[in-house]
Amino acid sequence: MAHKFNVRNAGILDSPDRIRFLNPENNLDEIELSGEMVLADLGCGTGYFAIPASFRVKKVFALDIQQEMLEILRDKIKKDKISNIEPILSNESSIPLSDNSIDVLFMANVFHEIEDRDSILKEGKRILKSHGKLIIIDWKKAEMDFGPPVEERLNEREVILICKSNDFELYKQSYPGLYNYLLIFQKTVPGKEKKLAEKISSDKYFHEERKQHSDIDDLVKKTLEDRKKRRQQQLER
Ligand SMILES: C[S@@+](CC[C@H](N)C(=O)[O-])C[C@H]1O[C@@H](n2cnc3c(N)ncnc32)[C@H](O)[C@@H]1O
Repeated sequence: MAHKFNVRNAGILDSPDRIRFLNPENNLDEIELSGEMVLADLGCGTGYFAIPASFRVKKVFALDIQQEMLEILRDKIKKDKISNIEPILSNESSIPLSDNSIDVLFMANVFHEIEDRDSILKEGKRILKSHGKLIIIDWKKAEMDFGPPVEERLNEREVILICKSNDFELYKQSYPGLYNYLLIFQKTVPGKEKKLAEKISSDKYFHEERKQHSDIDDLVKKTLEDRKKRRQQQLER
């Protein structure tokens, strides 16, 4: 059985230090989100991505198989008076959402934990609208002092192959975080020209030099200010 992130470590998911290497805003910037969209965050955990995403889209379904994670998220939603996130208890191999109801299916650091990826991708195809996008952010397959053990990780090529065999075509590949990759897929539309990946998978990106923010407090402050601005814009729309 695939190892699941333990809810007892939920604090790690919300650690301010996490913004330094996996900034949710930078990752969400990679996806073309708009105020009309419905996003499903599968394996949402405590809402590290679901909350900032809720400032950019119409509605977020936040799904997880661990009720305790959803309880933490519910407390945050209540405290911050967020009205467009709906937490839902999900199932290991199925997604309790209606057919053709979702614009974006988002999974961050979840894909490597899923037992039956083919079933989840089949479900993804069912719930996504025809233009829908599948976003997979996951750990690079490299030895690190943190994160899941290397043998449980999948590299970009493996994920692309699994998705391809389930009729998802790679649309974009990028590296907005130091230790993670971000892949965007679209449902394969038979007969239509397939879009090419923007970048070719390569381990060299792992060694790419990245501009690092040295002062984490400034970074956290800026991220929260940006988020506040987005919420304001959303309310004014
Ligand atoms: C490492 S946490 C990541 C949480 C969140 N996406 C984040 O980046 O902060 C992985 C989460 O995926 C959930 N999960 C694992 N397998 C799942 C599945 N088949 N369906 C839904 N959620 C799943 C786990 O319960 C856990 O909360």
